[in-house]
Amino acid sequence: MKHQNWSMSRRSVLKALGATGVAIGVAPWRAPNAIAAKGANVLVAKEGTARLVGEKGTATRIWGYNGQAPGPILRVTQGETLNVKLVNDIHQPTTLHWHGIRIVNAMDGVPGLTQKLVEPKSSFDYRFECPDAGTFWYHPHKYSSEQVARGLHGVLIVDERQPPTVDQDRVMVLDDWRLMRDGQIHNASFGAIGERAHGGRFGNTFTLNGQDNHKIAVIAGQRVRLRLCNVANASSFAVRFADHIVRIIAIDGQPVKPIKTDDGVVLLSPGQRADVMIDMTNTPGTESKVELLGFEQEVSIGRLVYAPDQKVRTDILDAPIALPDNPLAKQLDLANAIDVTLNMDGGAMGGMRGAKVDGDFVDMQRLVKQYGYVWAFNGTAGMPKQSLVQVKQGQTVRLRMVNQTGWPHAMHIHGHHFKQLEGSAGDGYGPVWRDTIVVRRGQDLTVGFVADNPGKWMLHCHMLEHQEGGMATWFEVMA
Ligand code: C2O
Ligand code: CU
Repeated sequence: MKHQNWSMSRRSVLKALGATGVAIGVAPWRAPNAIAAKGANVLVAKEGTARLVGEKGTATRIWGYNGQAPGPILRVTQGETLNVKLVNDIHQPTTLHWHGIRIVNAMDGVPGLTQKLVEPKSSFDYRFECPDAGTFWYHPHKYSSEQVARGLHGVLIVDERQPPTVDQDRVMVLDDWRLMRDGQIHNASFGAIGERAHGGRFGNTFTLNGQDNHKIAVIAGQRVRLRLCNVANASSFAVRFADHIVRIIAIDGQPVKPIKTDDGVVLLSPGQRADVMIDMTNTPGTESKVELLGFEQEVSIGRLVYAPDQKVRTDILDAPIALPDNPLAKQLDLANAIDVTLNMDGGAMGGMRGAKVDGDFVDMQRLVKQYGYVWAFNGTAGMPKQSLVQVKQGQTVRLRMVNQTGWPHAMHIHGHHFKQLEGSAGDGYGPVWRDTIVVRRGQDLTVGFVADNPGKWMLHCHMLEHQEGGMATWFEVMA
């Protein structure tokens, strides 16, 4: 088993994001059975085992959809309806949230806001249309810092009606796990207030598709589309594909004008996705590393393994890589926008003296003891009864997020995609449509979006310990 130091210095690229901490590792990832769109798909949240560290490593007891982590890849074509029955076979209540899908509100999976909890031994039927093509993911929205970290997460691919030509189209789930020396999940740290008040619960074992040394089999000359998804609770990743030119074609499920990355490095904070195109320009029989930058020791999580003596073509494929547009409302009517400010407070060294819970001021000590809260949005900790704002359907919202804390936060908005207007996410990708953006410590960042999806939508930090520690609110779009 590979152990990382708990105190790690990171490279500047991760500093820009205010990134990660550490953790522990585990099993071979059985190629998830891609579940087809049309029939009744069943996802059973249940216990399972995974060999995260080497094929002969310890079998780690996990929770996973159908017992596997990552869960099955769900796949539909743009515009199709997905039907999924969630069966809860763990001992905690749960739900399914469809991260990044501009979904009908009742299917958004937020307990207390859009649905009731799915109790142990019961089930819930999700059924919704997928308006945008791209890479999305699903995960629980109750006790998510524990449930996601134990392995409950999976990718949902919505295929373009006319996808770009590639030789392979693969999902790459990036994760970190905190394992003990015996290879089992470190339970005692779930809900630990100290980590909640700092950067979150980091792992010490890093995996690609549930393996610490994942093999991606390629043939020289191939064009490969990789769909990267960071499902870690709190870690931001700088993933590097050595020796290759890597171009980003989508971020958070929305197409971007292709971005050529520096040195093959792709930056992903918790919850974020990036679709990349890589031409296999190396020689048959060679191997190239897939690694995570920013740690003291080298963290290699996989490799591109070229088949010997084989080439599918001699030149790079001569076909466009840009993706077709999604039907996203992109006309921001800034002249008539509603202005909303979100002041982010709290955390270690944040000097917060207390916050409101359900309208009553609670001092810091009681906030921590009684509620487990250490963060606040606009002076309120945890999900308020009142919405942050109510807007009319179709209205443009200009949301200013002021991070007065000493920590970065990966801010996620449900049911909508937004674009940065002022300030930058620090990854250099510019103002692109996203569902999750990093607001660095001390940063003041403004995003805009068209509130065109009626319903009650959450807005929270996707560092899951921060979300549970109070960084959660919601807004309402009135039809
Ligand atoms: Cu991926 Cu509200 O979360
Ligand atoms: Cu946060």
